[in-house]
Amino acid sequence: MRWIARTFLGVFAVGWFCSAYVYLKSQQTINRSHVPEPRRVALVSGDDIQSEGARLSKVFGCVSCHGDRMQGQVLYEHALNGRITAPNLTQKASNLTLNEIEAVLRQGIKPDGSSVFVMPSASFSALTDRDFSAIYSHLLQLTSEGNAPKPTDYGLLTRYRIVRGQLPAAAEQRLTQPWRDTFRDSPRRLGEYLATVSCSQCHGSDLQGIDTLAPALGRLSNYDRVEFSELLTKGIAPAGREVAMKADLAAQRYRFLRAEEVDAIYEYLKQR
Ligand code: HEC
Ligand code: HEC
Repeated sequence: MRWIARTFLGVFAVGWFCSAYVYLKSQQTINRSHVPEPRRVALVSGDDIQSEGARLSKVFGCVSCHGDRMQGQVLYEHALNGRITAPNLTQKASNLTLNEIEAVLRQGIKPDGSSVFVMPSASFSALTDRDFSAIYSHLLQLTSEGNAPKPTDYGLLTRYRIVRGQLPAAAEQRLTQPWRDTFRDSPRRLGEYLATVSCSQCHGSDLQGIDTLAPALGRLSNYDRVEFSELLTKGIAPAGREVAMKADLAAQRYRFLRAEEVDAIYEYLKQR
């Protein structure tokens, strides 16, 4: 009987040490401090900038994660993975300075210097000052809500993914410097910009695909312009084929794209 007890204790001890290692190692990454690049944002104002911000917060996915009124929500909860929450932004924005919001959004660095996780700041690193201004002014005029969803609490499996580098600190993933707003007349460049800020969140920084998330975005040889628009803005694939997530993405994000933006993305993906 003794050896059974010993084996059991041994397995238990190894399990305990492994968990402790994953916990401590991931916590190091989570706590790691980053210094944001100091940046002067050329804030753009104007009558239509707030409504543009509301539109972009849909197209770029803020609303999909932070909730339709940006009131915050639990994105994911699972025994082994733990809980991931997109925080309530309706009060945050007015408590943070312009530079603090810039650092979170485009550099992935929170006011305490730690990195965000899950929040796709690497994709947002491309945001132009104009689009940043639009989103910023939209954040400032949100109706304050007291709602406080239960905070993020990483489970063992999520911590393991952090240790493995599968869930990276966004502050260490920055793709690019903010784009200068000089591309809007070129459909191909506009398409590249929109794909970088939005599609790359799932399809990867170079649209090469992300394991477990979304496939590589090839050259779309099987889509013509109209079919592509139907897929993106209505979630309908040719011949009525089911494509995972596209209906939700169309409803939450991409039906808010302008026709010329959809064309621009098509143009870019075609010529890549
Ligand atoms: C894929 C989901 C997702 C998307 C898309 C997303 N966020 Fe987030 N956001 C998160 C999560 C999760 C956090 C918490 C990150 C952390 O603390 O590690 C967060 C944190 C934030 C914070 C920091 C709040 C704080 O703790 O100080 C701000 C500000 C923010 N998001 C704004 C935005 C805006 C604006 C957009 C759109 C341009 C956006 N987010 C898009 C998931 C998302
Ligand atoms: C929230 C994650 C997410 C975002 C953001 C996203 N996609 Fe996807 N996309 C997916 C997933 C998941 C699939 C695979 C669906 C399947 O195979 O059933 C996919 C598949 C596709 C396909 C292939 C469809 C087919 O024929 O099988 C195309 C084309 C596509 N996406 C284009 C885009 C474009 C363009 C954007 C940006 C405007 C974008 N996606 C943004 C998740 C995303």
